[in-house]
Amino acid sequence: MKILVTGGAGYIGSHTVILLIESGYDVVIFDNFSNSSKESVARVENIVQKKIPLIKGDIRNKEDVENIFKAHNIDAVIHFAGLKAVGESVEQPLRYYDNNIYGTLVLCEVMQKYGCKSIVFSSSATVYGDPLSTPITESFPCSATNPYGRSKLFIEEMLQDLYTSDKAWKIVLLRYFNPIGAHESGTIGEDPNGIPNNLMPYITQTAVGKLSCLGVFGDDYDTHDGTGVRDYIHVVDLAEGHIKALEVIDTLEEVLTVNLGTGIGYSVLDMVKAFEEASGKEVPFCIAPRRAGDIAKCYADPSYAKEVLQWEAKKNIVQMCEDSWRWQQNNPNGYKGS
Ligand code: NAD
Ligand code: WQD
Repeated sequence: MKILVTGGAGYIGSHTVILLIESGYDVVIFDNFSNSSKESVARVENIVQKKIPLIKGDIRNKEDVENIFKAHNIDAVIHFAGLKAVGESVEQPLRYYDNNIYGTLVLCEVMQKYGCKSIVFSSSATVYGDPLSTPITESFPCSATNPYGRSKLFIEEMLQDLYTSDKAWKIVLLRYFNPIGAHESGTIGEDPNGIPNNLMPYITQTAVGKLSCLGVFGDDYDTHDGTGVRDYIHVVDLAEGHIKALEVIDTLEEVLTVNLGTGIGYSVLDMVKAFEEASGKEVPFCIAPRRAGDIAKCYADPSYAKEVLQWEAKKNIVQMCEDSWRWQQNNPNGYKGS
């Protein structure tokens, strides 16, 4: 079975490609490298000891996408390609709508034309907006608080409409919670551009001495220690969820929407402590004002994933911190400089 992985050079995509190959799938990676580099794919090839077809192109460019389907017999698509920075999406909404929504539209048009109607889509817990309670089940109401989230929500609805129009489509919407960690080899991981927005890369870059101090965004939330609570999930567990989605995709008789999380909520201060214990490094921090748009608590009810995908997260917070740290320590400048 041949899988097209859009955004396969990125953080989650690169980890998923490893598991796909280890599970016996043929893989074609398609990426425009707007937030990644060929180096990640070279390192994945080194891990799996196999050459992987890699095509540079943009999902918004119909010709680029058609060329893949002409050259390869694609059975299913795992669609990671997208822009993902919440703050940037507020500043550049049109860029996000163009890249994420229009890009997915072009991809689906080409898939339809070539009779490939199976897609696993990277959605996000952000579609739950500010949830009324936790843990969050898939039936919670959805809303968006920023253009990035709105792009995910719209794509989910677009894919649902596509299924309604043609039941031959097989669609899985995976709502990821907060992916962290890295492949245990320490050779691939998250490589944000500039100063990280997300907590774990900020912590690891502080620990390695690239940043001086972690700002903890608010300590007056209604949580056990006042700092924001999230469901951090190891990226390899997340990748595994995609393999499980492919295993059931042919049997689907409706659009399948699934949370991928651990079900456990950790606060910012819990994460600092867990990281310090796992790495033996101190993470200096100071309490800063709340970040606009942040919510107090967000963690999954992961029981539906267990029921329909036979999937559950296996790696604990210590492994997540150890693996994030190994990647950061071995690659203080990410893929740059290699
Ligand atoms: P990433 O930026 O590392 O990977 C995305 C990849 O897509 C990059 O390699 C980028 O170059 C590529 N890309 C972007 N636009 C493209 C385009 N128009 N054409 C071709 N390639 C394009 O991000 P990630 O963390 O691996 O996230 C993957 C997906 O998961 C994204 O859709 C993201 O929105 C979603 N997601 C991520 C998180 C998270 O916290 N990392 C959480 C929930 C959902
Ligand atoms: C986690 C916690 C912050 C940085 C974002 C997107 C979401 C999804 C995952 C894509 C919060 C606190 C953070 C820092 C801090 N991405 N924090 N200091 O906000 O849960 O989710 O990434 O879909 O859509 O919104 O993740 O890692 O940014 O923050 O105190 O320097 O850490 O306030 O409580 P978030 P995050």
